[in-house]
Amino acid sequence: MIRPVTETEIETVFQIINDAAPVYKTILADEHWHEPYMSKEELAAQISDGVHFYGWYENDMILGVMGFQDRGAVQLIRHAYVRTRAQGRGIGGKLLKYFIEKSEKPLLVGTWKKAVWAIGFYEKHGFVQTGDEESARLLKLYWNIPAWHAETSLVLKRPLSHLR
Ligand SMILES: CC(C)(COP(=O)(O)OP(=O)(O)OC[C@H]1O[C@@H](n2cnc3c(N)ncnc32)[C@H](O)[C@@H]1OP(=O)(O)O)[C@@H](O)C(=O)NCCC(=O)NCCS
Repeated sequence: MIRPVTETEIETVFQIINDAAPVYKTILADEHWHEPYMSKEELAAQISDGVHFYGWYENDMILGVMGFQDRGAVQLIRHAYVRTRAQGRGIGGKLLKYFIEKSEKPLLVGTWKKAVWAIGFYEKHGFVQTGDEESARLLKLYWNIPAWHAETSLVLKRPLSHLR
């Protein structure tokens, strides 16, 4: 079952993100890797900035989370993480499909250029990679991330015509 996470469940969101994120150790430069990957302060800042987290629940346990952020002309998928022990079972796909059906605008998602597994995951659900220039433009317009982060990221887009 999918539903928005409640305020009291933010600690669990924090745990899931930081359980799943260490895979990035293999692709991020040493100076950019830190633990936890996302601090509680950063998570709170993301929520204050309008990221709404939804969870996949099984027996009242959250196994995966994904954030949704309205940015005017577009909507963004932010921070997609499934507990390592529950990955590859379709949970991420169900969360993503939920947002695809819910969205009323083109959907964008940003990920690390080197996160080939994540790129494949989004492409499987109809997202297409934007080029280097377009990614840089979109990241500047809709994200609030440092320059090094933008340079190592790419944006995938799911145009409105692909919806439903
Ligand atoms: C990416 C992620 C959210 C997908 O959720 P999930 O529940 O594992 O994904 P699903 O089971 O719905 O889909 C699996 C598909 O995703 C891709 N995928 C996900 N994890 C993968 C991995 N570790 N290696 C290779 N492919 C992977 C594959 O395309 C796979 O397709 P297949 O089942 O046909 O092989 C989850 O694996 C995760 O948390 N990964 C670590 C953090 C991350 O990369 N997040 C993305 C941030 S933008």
